[in-house]
Amino acid sequence: MNRPEKGSMRKHWGLDDKTIFLNHGSYGATPTIVMDEQKRWQHLMEKDPVKFYEEIAPDALLQSRKTIAKLVNCHHDDLALIENATSGVNTVLRSLEFEKGDEIIVPNHSYQACRNTIDFVAKKWGAVVITCDIPFPIESNQIIIDRVMKCVSKNTKLAMIDTVTSPTGIRMPFEKLIQLLESRGVNVLLDAAHGIGMIPLNLDAMGASYTTSNCHKWLCAPKGTAFLHVRKDLQEQIHPLVISHGMTFPLGDTTRFRHEFDWTGTRDISAWCVLPFLIKEISLLVGMNWDEIMQHNKTLAIKGRNIICNELNIVPPCPDEMISSIATIKISPKQIENHNLHEPDPLHLELLKNYKIQVPVWSWPNPDGRYIRISSQLYNHEDEYKYLASILKKCL
Ligand SMILES: Cc1ncc(COP(=O)(O)O)c(C=O)c1O
Repeated sequence: MNRPEKGSMRKHWGLDDKTIFLNHGSYGATPTIVMDEQKRWQHLMEKDPVKFYEEIAPDALLQSRKTIAKLVNCHHDDLALIENATSGVNTVLRSLEFEKGDEIIVPNHSYQACRNTIDFVAKKWGAVVITCDIPFPIESNQIIIDRVMKCVSKNTKLAMIDTVTSPTGIRMPFEKLIQLLESRGVNVLLDAAHGIGMIPLNLDAMGASYTTSNCHKWLCAPKGTAFLHVRKDLQEQIHPLVISHGMTFPLGDTTRFRHEFDWTGTRDISAWCVLPFLIKEISLLVGMNWDEIMQHNKTLAIKGRNIICNELNIVPPCPDEMISSIATIKISPKQIENHNLHEPDPLHLELLKNYKIQVPVWSWPNPDGRYIRISSQLYNHEDEYKYLASILKKCL
């Protein structure tokens, strides 16, 4: 079979020409112009590091926060630039104090690293982790809402809710969940690792207590670019994982939250500095605004998923409206037997080695099954999913 056509915008990414790259979801991928812009910031930093950190960086970071705030509708002072969603989740959970018996809700589809943080923190305080079982395949958002709300008790203090789940690629009804949970006095930690650049976010309207989102995934920012938003009334309790000068810096006309998060020690901040550039320039490069980019990727993911489901004779595991730019298909009702889950699935290796297709395949214990997850980004083409579908038919 001929190799598939690639998306016309692929030339803007430095991805390996020989690979069919269907896994934007894991680590993102950055266009060449953004990498060049990051290098320009690094050169500026090394031209005079003192001038850079003391005169240039504060304004550059303010502009970056303003750019992000505009995109997700919040005040830029309520945002902290951080390295990744894992550290965002850790920052919140490790700042909070719990009492013995307090309950923390987490759905079974949540990202394992973040679940580990919840387990770690719960053990330290004697809090109880309530796993909310959500099925997959799934027919409607209402099932998720009912299951999560059923877990709420008088002891519930916090719920960690995903925007889009990692193993199963479900776009959660997070807006509704935030509204219902917060109105019951449950603080929501929104894990929007798949968030900015993938789905519209309106932080002020949603009103979640805490939101963390990766810019290095769907905004295509350089690795190590993410944000944490903390609602104003909760900022006093939340401290960065690294305590630094900000703790004692004279307050002036700003907040302790700002001081603490603006400086956590010397580090390369060039990835954060490129945000205003990338928001404008990626959009110009591809001739679409960000709403159109998100819609483009979503439409392609749904198309790609349905192509594969048709070819394999699988009923799509959820309605189209529960899909954004990643989509998971259950290829087997049970986890693969006798397989170490920390090692790559043999099918993943076969697809990569024999067909040069980069796509994740994994087993997940709950909901039990073996899954393949596709991603759709501007550089992808419908043909790539047709090709994957035909290869899967042969391999499975
Ligand atoms: C839902 C979810 N949360 C958190 C993360 C962690 O992201 P990072 O490794 O950038 O911290 C991921 C990564 O894929 C994810 O899918």
